Amino acid sequence: MVVAGELNNNNASAASSKRMLRLGIAADHGGFALKVEIMRLLLSAGYEVEDFGAFQMDFDDDYPDFTIPLAQAVADGRVERGIAVCGSGVGASVAANKIPGVRAGLVHDSFSAHQGVEDDDMNVLCLGARVTGPALALELVDIFLSANFSGAERHQRRLAKLHAVEAAYR
Ligand code: RB5
Repeated sequence: MVVAGELNNNNASAASSKRMLRLGIAADHGGFALKVEIMRLLLSAGYEVEDFGAFQMDFDDDYPDFTIPLAQAVADGRVERGIAVCGSGVGASVAANKIPGVRAGLVHDSFSAHQGVEDDDMNVLCLGARVTGPALALELVDIFLSANFSGAERHQRRLAKLHAVEAAYR
């Protein structure tokens, strides 16, 4: 289990850093309990975190209502990275990727948590609280936040192709 003092202090990747990012977080009822745990960890580690809801457990709420405002904040630069949680993480990732400028990835493993940032400039981490247990989820958050985009030409080239698609559909 990652505890607050350990955040950003593990073996995330060679491209890791400890810069404190401005973060946003969102979850529906499927991810609500995990969001509370992640929030607690991030705040105790000193991150500035904007909470996009849900603010209470409501079994009838809908993930787009929380994920889309988070994704818009990432796209606008109001927050630098986002964490979106739902039951499977699928709905959150589908919703977040509707917003141009968002590169959301559903992550279950440590490799993807840092490689998604290093190679793909992933800026929203999606987690499935019914799939990924809390200890692993907190480690994945830590790894995601410790990773940086490589800036390599081949990675920029691939992102430019995605930007072109976004521009074509605006
Ligand atoms: C809500 O019950 C559930 O469908 C949602 O949290 C998520 O798993 C969707 O992908």
